[in-house]
Parts: sequence; structure tokens; C-alpha cells
Amino acid sequence: MPPRWKFTPSEAVPAGATFDPQNLKGKNVIVTGGASGIGEFVVRGFVEVGAFVTFGDVDLARGEALAKELGAVFVKCDVLKWEEQLELFKKTLERGGVDVVVANAGLDGEDTILKRQPITPSNDPTEPNLRILRINLIGVAYTARLANFYFSRTPKSDHSLIITASLSSYIDHPFSPEYNASKWGVRGLMRSLRSTTGVSGMRVGVVAPWYVPF
Ligand SMILES: NC(=O)c1ccc[n+]([C@@H]2O[C@H](COP(=O)([O-])OP(=O)(O)OC[C@H]3O[C@@H](n4cnc5c(N)ncnc54)[C@H](O)[C@@H]3O)[C@@H](O)[C@H]2O)c1
Repeated sequence: MPPRWKFTPSEAVPAGATFDPQNLKGKNVIVTGGASGIGEFVVRGFVEVGAFVTFGDVDLARGEALAKELGAVFVKCDVLKWEEQLELFKKTLERGGVDVVVANAGLDGEDTILKRQPITPSNDPTEPNLRILRINLIGVAYTARLANFYFSRTPKSDHSLIITASLSSYIDHPFSPEYNASKWGVRGLMRSLRSTTGVSGMRVGVVAPWYVPF
């Protein structure tokens, strides 16, 4: 029996590759963690080429100010809260559809797997909150599920899910097991999802920066 779809993964696209920004004009784009850093640049970039951007973040002050400056739409959204991500997607659908989703929200910082604590003969280890791992991996998994669902509500579009990964998705990142695992995790998510593009119609890719100072 012939396979139901043919899977041909594309090669990595060189960072300097050119594209036609006209293709993005009028597209409805969602960005998570769009109020600052890389996400803010992504929001600004899409607005500049004429896309309609709806972005979420936990930083209300920065999000609202950026939305006002650019004429974009800001939605309060913690990626770990399903209802808030759902609202972000619903708000975007109201604007005409969902064409491109950038799962960017992420966190670095003190790792709770390796977190030091005083060791006595009788104490127990403290429970790690695993916030970095959860935001960077579970938050992206929520975004991927919502993207897959809402893309199907937007027929006749070249649906694209772009995940902000990291060089830590490819290498050993000492002292940061939560971050390292989360970034390998989102790369794994991409590798599984891309192989079903033929069925879902959702293109999936990662962008893997190393150190980007702000
Ligand atoms: N800056 C770098 O050098 C670098 C390198 C590789 C990968 N990255 C990745 O790029 C992405 C953006 O990082 P950045 O450096 O721009 O960081 P940043 O801290 O400047 O921006 C992250 C944004 O995400 C928001 N955010 C944090 N937790 C959130 C949550 N639970 N829900 C929604 N929004 C939340 C923050 O408020 C902030 O606006 C992350 O996924 C990060 O891991 C960054």
C-alpha cells in the first residue's frame, strides 16, 4: 500500500537567506512572548512588512506600550495558562484567521534541578519548580496544539509554525539542564510535527539563536 503522504524534510535555511516580504502582507500573525527581546523584534518585523500582529506576554506594561506604538493587538497571555493562550488565538481569529504562529516565549535563569541547598544529615531535597522547562516546552506544546487547530479554521493559507529554539537545542549546555532539555524538547516537537505536514498542512520550523544581547 502506498504511504498516505511523502515526507521530505527541507534542509536548514541559511541565516542570510532572502525572502519576499510581500508574501507576508496582510497575514495574521501570532507571537508569544512578544513584549521584549527577540519576540519584540519579531513583532516589529512582521508589522513593518504589513502583517496583522497579535501578540501575548506576561509583561502587561511593555506589551500594551508596544501594541499602542505599532498598532498591533496585545493580549495578556502566560503560555502556561491554556485559557490565556486560547484567548490569544481567538482574538487573532476574530481578525480574519491565523496564518503564522511564532512560539517564542521562553525563560532562562537559575536551574531548579541543580539548585543548591544546605545539606544536613536529615533534610530532604526541595521540590524543583521546573518553571524554565515548563514554560519553554509545555508552553510551546500548548501553542503547537492551538496552531494546528486554528490553522484548520483558516483555509487557503500557507500555515507556518515557527519555534524559537536555541543553539542549546543542539549542544551540551552545562549547569542548565532545564533549559537544555526544554530546547532539545522543542526541536523534538518540531521534528515530529514536520513529518506530518503532508497531513496537517502545518509547516514547522525552528530558529536557533545563540547569544543575542539586549
Ligand atoms: N537572547 C538569547 O541569547 C537567546 C538565545 C537563544 C534562544 N533564545 C530564546 O529566545 C526566546 C526569547 O528570549 P529573549 O532572549 O528575547 O528573552 P526576553 O526575556 O528578552 O524575552 C522573553 C519574553 O517572554 C516573556 N515571557 C516570559 N515568560 C512568559 C510566559 N510564561 N508567558 C508568556 N510570555 C512570557 C517575557 O515577559 C519577555 O517579554 C526564548 O525562547 C529564549 O529561550 C534567546
